[in-house]
Amino acid sequence: MRKGSIAALLGLALIAGGVATAVALVPTWLPEDASQQAGRIAFTFWFVIAICIFIFAIVAAVMVYAVVKFRVREDDFEDGPPIHGHTGLEITWTIIPFVLVTSIAIVSAIVLSRNDAQAKDTLRVDVTAQQFEFTFSYPDAGNVTSPVLMLPKGRSVELYMRALDVIHSVFVPEFSVKEDIVPGLVTQLHVTPTRLGTFPLECTELCGLGHSLMRSQAVVMEPAAFNSWLKKQEKGAAPSTTTSTTSTTSSTTPISPAQAGLMVFNQNGCSACHTLSAANATGKVGPDLDNLVSYARTAKQPLESFVHQSIVDPDAYIQPGYSKGVMPTNFGQVLTKEQLDHLVTFLVQSAQKSGNK
Ligand code: CUA
Repeated sequence: MRKGSIAALLGLALIAGGVATAVALVPTWLPEDASQQAGRIAFTFWFVIAICIFIFAIVAAVMVYAVVKFRVREDDFEDGPPIHGHTGLEITWTIIPFVLVTSIAIVSAIVLSRNDAQAKDTLRVDVTAQQFEFTFSYPDAGNVTSPVLMLPKGRSVELYMRALDVIHSVFVPEFSVKEDIVPGLVTQLHVTPTRLGTFPLECTELCGLGHSLMRSQAVVMEPAAFNSWLKKQEKGAAPSTTTSTTSTTSSTTPISPAQAGLMVFNQNGCSACHTLSAANATGKVGPDLDNLVSYARTAKQPLESFVHQSIVDPDAYIQPGYSKGVMPTNFGQVLTKEQLDHLVTFLVQSAQKSGNK
């Protein structure tokens, strides 16, 4: 090879590498790290990107050089010279990729094993996913539940995740961790938050019509603030059980069935799909529950039994304009009989209040 050709190839490689580096570094591709795991994932990411830029520079330089230098001249109908390979070149282009790919495998294996390694005082959080809502509960704190993932900063957290209906997936971009939640399995996800703040937590598995609404948040707090939040929740949960067991004086429960029904409505994620002014719900996936009276009339059923059937056997009657198979069919199993009764009472009462539209 001539000196000129080598200089040309090198120049092209530098230009291609420079452009690729600019594309990699100038835009902000990754969110700012908020977990120990994210730092390691980002390292792996940039390690692989650097290798890719190196390979891209070589390939782009050789390609551009070959296209320009060996392009067909006018009236040139000759065949190319017969070439019998080049042992040295072949060994080189086998060994270099082998070394690079092996190094990626080693770095990834180290990062994955470190990301999964738990510390001693790991906090356990149980995650329940269903169309179209996440629920987080804290088994070490009396099973306090929350629609938002509250976490203490700097502590190793293990999520134990279950799905009640279809496959979902949990992802917090700032944590750089993600895991599917599969019915019948308990999948685990380990994260150690390092930055205070509120981060989006989203479902990243297409799980039905409300998939795009299946979002929550991960809130990272100072450990002291987290502990006092947990204590407050535990205390908040306690009185209702103590009053209901000690309220022997009257036959009425401390909260009305309709109020209890509103809680069932909120806890089961109904608002993700339905509009209902009594619950400040604005979901647009399923039928507007403020119109239940007119739906029952169209279905030619008494309101109460219509509401009950629509919850436990949603496909029995489909309001025109909506589709079968969207509403989960397992609420008959998920809810207790009492919860179901409260929910029906709440929906019937609020439907009657919102008028015979
Ligand atoms: Cu759950 Cu998408």
